[in-house]
Amino acid sequence: MTDPIDGFDIDNPDLPKAIRKAALGSGEFPYAEKLDDDDYDTQMYGLQKQLVAHQAHMAKAGTRVVIIFEGRDAAGKGGTIKRFLENLNPRYNMIAALPKPNDRERTQWYFQRYIDWLPAAGEMVLFDRSWYNRAGVEPVMGFCTPEQTELFLDEAPEFEKRLTNDGIQIFKLWLSIGREMQLKRFHDRRHDPLKTWKLSPIDLQALDKWDAYSEARDRMLERTDKKHAPWTVLRANDKNRLRLNAIRTVLHALDYEGKNADELGQIDHKIVLSADEFMK
Ligand code: ADP
Ligand code: AMP
Ligand code: MLT
Repeated sequence: MTDPIDGFDIDNPDLPKAIRKAALGSGEFPYAEKLDDDDYDTQMYGLQKQLVAHQAHMAKAGTRVVIIFEGRDAAGKGGTIKRFLENLNPRYNMIAALPKPNDRERTQWYFQRYIDWLPAAGEMVLFDRSWYNRAGVEPVMGFCTPEQTELFLDEAPEFEKRLTNDGIQIFKLWLSIGREMQLKRFHDRRHDPLKTWKLSPIDLQALDKWDAYSEARDRMLERTDKKHAPWTVLRANDKNRLRLNAIRTVLHALDYEGKNADELGQIDHKIVLSADEFMK
């Protein structure tokens, strides 16, 4: 079990100042300040136009894109997905956020229920969590056996190879937050009436499983980072930089008519890392 952090009480409306102050810099985050909101808006507008250009290309060329969002609870998966989809046609750009498997699904091949959600021509599917549950939350929370996780870690790259062989482009994004930032966000969720729905019993149990999740993450990155489907790690403490660089990472790697370097902007390599760079 992870050592508790001094003075943290999720039910106390006052978050200890030490946690608030440490949040942005936690987990080796490289910036002392958030990206300015006006800069964010300007850069995001360019990226939104590029996403629309890419959508037109997908429709014309019939390409298929999968983006997997993984990360600890409160890493910012949902908010990033929302920005991807903000100005796109929901008919062709959708979220796959599967609930926990039901009794029938539990008896199926593990990957089976995800297959229904894979894209057809012209579609982009954003997975808010994915089959990688079997490498993270499931072993850490005891929802599967160690043998099932082992098998999964061998099979996930093979499964993904079948998809990329068929021409689907896959992005796997790991959103990385620091411990104090996670505490701060859990605390915000507990006390903000518009955010309490985001705080689940699993999140609360994650509070003292920080180290177990770190080990599960490292093992997942080591075993499933492959040339045909590599992981990209994004330092996620600053939501502005996270969202911009997540969209950029995807668009930079795609071909489409109207691709524009000014609108795309540069990937920030202090925020965006390969799995190897992250684990060094
Ligand atoms: P989220 O963080 O995605 O809002 P939760 O924190 O409630 O949702 O759960 C984290 C993940 O664990 C979800 O993908 C959920 O489906 C999964 N999960 C929860 N309970 C179980 C279970 N009993 N067996 C397998 N997976 C589960
Ligand atoms: P729209 O102008 O967006 O209403 O699209 C008109 C038609 O173009 C739709 O009914 C679809 O048949 C097709 N279309 C638009 N976008 C896509 C897409 N991303 N993928 C496939 N077909 C598309
Ligand atoms: C996130 O913030 O990463 C997701 O939106 C939800 C969660 O896991 O808490």
